[in-house]
Amino acid sequence: MRTHTCGSLRKDDDGKSVILCGFVHKRRDHGGLVFIDLRDRYGITQIVFDPEKGSQAHEVAHKLRSEFVIKVSGNVVARPDNMLNKNLDTGDIEIYATELEIFSESQTTPFEIDADNLVNEELRLKHRYLDLRREKMKSNIITRHKVIKYMRDFLDSQDFLEIETPILIKGTPEGSREYIVPSRVYPGNFYVLPQSPQQLKQLLMVAGMDKYFQIARCFRDEDQRGDRQPEFTQLDMELSFVSQEDIIKINSDLLFDILTKFRPDLSIKDNQVFTLTYDEAMNRFGSDKPDLRFDLEFKDASSIFQNTSFNAFAGALKSGGVLKVMKVAGAAEKFSRKDISELESVAKIYKAKGLAYISKKDGELNSPILKFLSDLEVESLLKLTEFNEGDIMFFACDTFDIACNSLGHVRNAVAKKLNLIDESVCSIGWVTDFPMFEVNDDGSMQACHHPFTSPKKEDLEFIDTDIFRVRTNSYDLVMNGYEIAGGSVRIHERDLQAKVFDLLGISKEDAKERFGHILTAFSYGVPPHAGIAWGLDRLIMILCNEPNIREVIAFPKDQKAKDVMLGAPSKMPIDTLEELSITIDTE
Ligand code: AMO
Ligand code: AMP
Repeated sequence: MRTHTCGSLRKDDDGKSVILCGFVHKRRDHGGLVFIDLRDRYGITQIVFDPEKGSQAHEVAHKLRSEFVIKVSGNVVARPDNMLNKNLDTGDIEIYATELEIFSESQTTPFEIDADNLVNEELRLKHRYLDLRREKMKSNIITRHKVIKYMRDFLDSQDFLEIETPILIKGTPEGSREYIVPSRVYPGNFYVLPQSPQQLKQLLMVAGMDKYFQIARCFRDEDQRGDRQPEFTQLDMELSFVSQEDIIKINSDLLFDILTKFRPDLSIKDNQVFTLTYDEAMNRFGSDKPDLRFDLEFKDASSIFQNTSFNAFAGALKSGGVLKVMKVAGAAEKFSRKDISELESVAKIYKAKGLAYISKKDGELNSPILKFLSDLEVESLLKLTEFNEGDIMFFACDTFDIACNSLGHVRNAVAKKLNLIDESVCSIGWVTDFPMFEVNDDGSMQACHHPFTSPKKEDLEFIDTDIFRVRTNSYDLVMNGYEIAGGSVRIHERDLQAKVFDLLGISKEDAKERFGHILTAFSYGVPPHAGIAWGLDRLIMILCNEPNIREVIAFPKDQKAKDVMLGAPSKMPIDTLEELSITIDTE
């Protein structure tokens, strides 16, 4: 239908007769001459309709409006030197149209395809096919394609096999709520959609596939956030006969290569990949995914306040809590009372009881808690934090988890407020040795990563006596404060796997019913294996410099898990439901 795309013609093509197809991007009708910018995926080319050069085309051109889809035949003409358009790749030429065919007209679009910052996301999502015509969205989709292709090639060159796993599977509880699909053939029975291909990829190792990967769609019925979607995509991998170090090496190499190729403008912070244990990361930065593009760090002041008479601290410390302090050098003047109270609100979202602070201006210490502290406590604190004129420090005193986590969020908020984040730098690293189990809000226990994660050998002795002391062979890949990948060395011993189910309170019968396939498979010879999964959407979001993953997904759900374009979820006809033996209680 066309001889060239709208991005391909150059000065050398002068004099050629060509046919282009595309969307009318912009139109200027000067009566005598009509100019349009014709757009397709590949670029924009200026078309001139001149009655002298093509009267039919010129006649029809008056009808053109934005987003009409057309075919233009014409001749390439090099522009004179003083008429070049430096903003376009094709700016050295224009096409003088001889024929014009309108394939399809367009109504006025609900937003401008040309606009940079569209605020109404609902409208964009409702007309996503129009939103995707915009330059930035198109470029995000292209980057996504290229990154996935790059990953495929990288893994192929290292002998990985790309293997698909099913989408309709059996409930494999891993942590989040599952989406379930009713079975017509077996009334009252359900498939579930995979939260990840975790068990299937492990079974592929039992099958001897050795190195597996998949660009895998995962489904989780959880609350939405900027970096979460109910369905999202992983680069999923699993390998046999490898150690944690092997996985870390391969995946660090892959990330380094991707950054070099796709974001050559970014330099890697300190030119290295950091590694921190979970304990270190929490203790020093208050997060298991610390953003290390900035240096703010905590000190532990628990020992200084062991015998304090300040009640707010004494209580927490007596019951085994900690006191974390974060100094922000030279920032005392930069925080108004209102700023500090905003930071305190941040801390409180994460369950802190308050956010005490001390600052030093004109040689004077200022703080609402100074009157409660002894001279020795203050002196030790100043020494611990190497406190100077103009500095400010913030405190969190609570259980380890709450103190670290709340001050960690304050750390991020402070960095944002003070503009401490250098956007030309990228921080990447690994957080390892996560605890095996964590306590849910309702007091129940769950695996921190998932129940297939192997405990560290040296911690096995605590498994029956001090379960929360047991750490795992697990690792998260962290980039600019986002967890972009996570994985672990797996349990490959049948008995240990059964024991972990037992610890999680899953009865033998239940384990057999829910995980029988794994336990049976593990009785036929299992290679030691390990794996990891990348949140592909999150990685691409960072590469494209976007604030949320919806910007890099062609057809995402909105923040309430709705597809506003298709109108999903939606009601189903009664007879469809009857076929599935489902009745809906309409009350
Ligand atoms: P995990 O649950 O940590 O591990 O998931 C791996 C990575 O997937 C991304 N991710 C998400 N991205 C978008 N929306 C979501 N709702 C969402 N949830 C997770 C994160 C995360 O690091 N089977 C294991 C991996 C393994 O052990 O090999 C798993 O799924 O970037
Ligand atoms: P209060 O005596 O409760 O008014 O607290 C005095 C100051 O200490 C306030 O600035 C509180 O924000 C702060 N504060 C109270 N409890 C804690 C806590 N557990 N950790 C950190 N700061 C706290």
